[in-house]
Amino acid sequence: MDKQFDDGIRTVELANGIVMPQIGFGTYKLPVADTQRAVEEALEVGYRLIDNAAAYNNEEGVGAALRATGMSDRVFVTTKLRNADQGYDSALRAFEESRAKLGVDVLDLYLIHWPVPRWDRYLDSWRALVRLYEEGAIRAIGVSNFLPDHIDRIVNETGVVPVVDQIESHPSYSQPGLCAYCAEKGIVVEAFSPLGRGSDMASEPILAAAKAHGVTPAQAVLRWHLQSGRVLIPKSAHIERMRENLDLDGFELSADEMAAIDELDDPANRMSGDPNTFDLPQTPKDMAARGCK
Ligand SMILES: NC(=O)c1ccc[n+]([C@@H]2O[C@H](COP(=O)([O-])OP(=O)(O)OC[C@H]3O[C@@H](n4cnc5c(N)ncnc54)[C@H](OP(=O)(O)O)[C@@H]3O)[C@@H](O)[C@H]2O)c1
Repeated sequence: MDKQFDDGIRTVELANGIVMPQIGFGTYKLPVADTQRAVEEALEVGYRLIDNAAAYNNEEGVGAALRATGMSDRVFVTTKLRNADQGYDSALRAFEESRAKLGVDVLDLYLIHWPVPRWDRYLDSWRALVRLYEEGAIRAIGVSNFLPDHIDRIVNETGVVPVVDQIESHPSYSQPGLCAYCAEKGIVVEAFSPLGRGSDMASEPILAAAKAHGVTPAQAVLRWHLQSGRVLIPKSAHIERMRENLDLDGFELSADEMAAIDELDDPANRMSGDPNTFDLPQTPKDMAARGCK
């Protein structure tokens, strides 16, 4: 059964028929103590997709916001399997912990956070997600930071194609090759760090598009993602910016403006880890060292 989203919420349909809002609210680096407030504000201003992860150590805050607002039947919730929990049995256990913290009966989308090829556990983790999906505990399963080789392997071994790949994507690092691969396989690309963590908005084509349409540079960047067909999950701790990042209607970038922003891509500009080598366990200690309180 699909969730019913309010009128005006932009959605995409995943390959298994599940409908997912196209604009979501990211929760990375929201301090535990502040997560409930930020998620409640995000729901109040109109977000209906919340992107979370066990590694962010704030799933309880998301769960508290869902309970306090009574909106879990109208909100699409994503969380992710942390690296330390990869493996078949450990993924099943980790899922139950996340489900309890979020307080949901059925999770909308569960992702393997990183492939960590060096540990070689992502195939077993994927088998666990497939089981949970077949049992009806999750409505859609996908991956994050997976490259074509990783996806080909899980598909060849299990026959189950992930419906989403959540990847780093912003104007200065948009991964056109990986996006084309996903399009060919029917996998929806979900852009993380869609604003380049706030640092990607001063480029000439972005400033020009923003000026031409009377919008902010952040809105021009987010509109570029929308028109490219990606799901996007900007994060802000501030309610005015939450509103701004959701207010993307009423203007359309031209083909030339889109192409000029596409041109900013530079494979040297990755901000996050390298999917082939990133292997932090993502324990609370690791994450605190990376600025997650
Ligand atoms: N799967 C993965 O491995 C992975 C990795 C990274 C992120 N993610 C997900 O993607 C989400 C978003 O990515 P992100 O948080 O890394 O980066 P982001 O959304 O690109 O940027 C967030 C930064 O931009 C600022 N910002 C937000 N809106 C703005 C606006 N309208 N104008 C100017 N600055 C603005 C925010 O500041 P304020 O908060 O002060 O407003 C914050 O510093 C995360 O929260 C998480 O859910 C997933």
